[in-house]
Amino acid sequence: MTRDHNTETDESVREDPRTDGGASAEGADATSLDPWGSSTISDYRKLFEEFGIEEFDAVLPEVPDPHYLMRRGVIFGHRDYRPVAEAMRDGDDFAVLSGFMPTGDPHIGHKLVFDEIIWHQEQGGDAYGLIADLEAHSARGMSWAEIDEHARDYLLSLLALGFDPEEGELYRQSDNRELQDLAFELGSKANYSEFEAIYGFDGSTNVSHVQSVVTQMADILYPQLEEPKPTVIPVGPDQDPHVRLARDLADRMRFFKVTEAYASFELRDAERPLVAAAYDAREEFAEDPETPRCEEAGEWLSAADLDAHGVVAAESARESAVEKLANAGMEPLRPRVRFLDANATDEAFDALIEAVEGEKRRYDEHVDAFDLSFDEADELAREVEIEHGGYGFRAPSSLYHRFMTGLTGGKMSSSIPASHISLLDDPEEGYDKVKSATTGGRETAEKQRELGGEADKCPVYELYAYLLSGDDDAFATEVYEECVGGERLCGGCKEQAAELMEEFLEDHQEKREEMEEVLADLDISTESARRDVAPGDD
Ligand code: TRP
Ligand code: SF4
Repeated sequence: MTRDHNTETDESVREDPRTDGGASAEGADATSLDPWGSSTISDYRKLFEEFGIEEFDAVLPEVPDPHYLMRRGVIFGHRDYRPVAEAMRDGDDFAVLSGFMPTGDPHIGHKLVFDEIIWHQEQGGDAYGLIADLEAHSARGMSWAEIDEHARDYLLSLLALGFDPEEGELYRQSDNRELQDLAFELGSKANYSEFEAIYGFDGSTNVSHVQSVVTQMADILYPQLEEPKPTVIPVGPDQDPHVRLARDLADRMRFFKVTEAYASFELRDAERPLVAAAYDAREEFAEDPETPRCEEAGEWLSAADLDAHGVVAAESARESAVEKLANAGMEPLRPRVRFLDANATDEAFDALIEAVEGEKRRYDEHVDAFDLSFDEADELAREVEIEHGGYGFRAPSSLYHRFMTGLTGGKMSSSIPASHISLLDDPEEGYDKVKSATTGGRETAEKQRELGGEADKCPVYELYAYLLSGDDDAFATEVYEECVGGERLCGGCKEQAAELMEEFLEDHQEKREEMEEVLADLDISTESARRDVAPGDD
C-alpha cells in the first residue's frame, strides 16, 4: 500500500468525446476500490452496478450552470448530490470539502479536485480544504518535515487557482482539536471488524492508521459541526469506501430514525413498497375501506399481481410482508411516520413526543405520528436532536472524477515523472512532457488523414478536455472533431497543447508566488511542531 491513488488510472476508460464512455478493455484489472492501494478502474460501469455509485449525467440537468468537468463527463459519478444541487438552486446553505495527502507534489490530477472545491465555493458553498497529514504520516510513512514541505505546495496551488481563504477554511488534521474531538465521537460508532471488512485492515495494521480513518470521517462531517447542511465531498472513486462509511456514521449518530410504517410492526425497506401497494388497493379487499385490516391486506398481497401495481419486489420480501400482515390480524392498516429512538436521551425522546403535532401514539421504543409527512417528521427529528445537544448530521454527498491517463500511456503515477505534470514543473519541462506524450494518432500522417485520430485513446486530448480548454467547450469539441475527422495531425496538436501547458504553468506559478504572502497570513501552519520519530508504515 504505497501508491498515490490520485494518480492512478487505467487506459481503458476513454471512449466517447466527453470521455465518459465507460468502456472496458479486455484483460483489464478487476475493479477494486482501495483508498491506499492501486485503484485501477477497469470499468467505470462497474462502479454503478457493483458499488451503487450513481451516474452524474442523471443529476446534471439539476445543476445550475454546471462546471466544465461536469459537462464533459470528467465528473462521472456521485452519491446523493441532489440535495447539494437543490441548495445551490435555492440559495440555501451547503458546503464542499476535500482533503489532500501531502505525499508528493500537487499535480494536474489534484487540480481537478482543487477546481471542484473552488467552483462550489463560487456557487455559494462554505468551502474547506484540508491537509491529511495524520493520514500521510500513519499510512504512508511520511516524516513531518516532508509533510510540511508538501503541505505548503498544496495550499499554494489551491490558493493560486482561486480558493478564497477569507470565505473558506483551510486546516491540517494534526492541528484541529475540534476535528479530533469529533473523530473520537465517531469512532465510538464504528468497530474494528468493520474496518477489516471495508479496508482490509488486520492485526498488522498500525493503530494510527486506524485513527486516520476516523479522522477522515470527521473531516467529511466537519462542515456540519455548527449546523447540518448538504455537503459535497469531491474525490476520486478510490475514496468511495470512506464516503460510504461516513454516510453510515452520520446516520448512526442520529438521535431518531424516521421511517414510514403502516401498522405497529416494523417493515424492512424491501417490504415497504409492498405494504404501500396493499394500502393503495384497499378498496379492492377491505370490508370497510375506511378501516382496512392487516390480515385482509395480507391475503390480498399474497395473491396480488405486483406488476399490475407497478411494484418490483423479491418474492422473499412478499412472503415476509404477508406474514407480518397476517400476524397483525385485525389491526387497522394505516399509514404513519415513525420516530424510532436510536441514540436519544429520555429527555430528548419525551421532547420529541411533545413536539409531534396531531394524532400520535407512543410505544416503548418509538412514537407514531399520523398527521405528519415524512419530510416534516424528518425536519422535526433533526430540530429536536439539535436542541438536545445532538449534531443532526445530514448524510454527506460525493462527486467522483475520472483518473487522468498517464502521458506515457499507462497510469499516471507520481513515481513516473514523465507520466504526469506536476503543478511545480518548470513550464519548459511541462512543454517537453506534452511534446513527448503518447497519442491516439495513427502510424502515418496519411492514415491519420484517412481514418482520423483516436482522440478517445489519446492522453493529449485528455489534457485538452480536462485542463487546457478551460471553460471553452467549443474549443474542446473542435480539437476532438478535427482529430477524429483526420484534419488534425499529432505533431501540430501536441505543439499547441504543449504551448498551452507551458502558459498554464507559467501563469499558475506566478500566482503561487503571489499567494506566498497570503498563506503566511493565514492561521494554518506550515511548520509542524511534531517530532520526527519513525513514522508509521503498513
Ligand atoms: N484520504 C484522502 C486521500 O487519500 C485524503 C483525505 C483526508 C480526504 N480526509 C479527507 C479526502 C476528507 C476527502 C475528504 O487523498
Ligand atoms: Fe491526440 Fe491530437 Fe493526435 Fe488527435 S491529433 S490523436 S488529439 S495528439
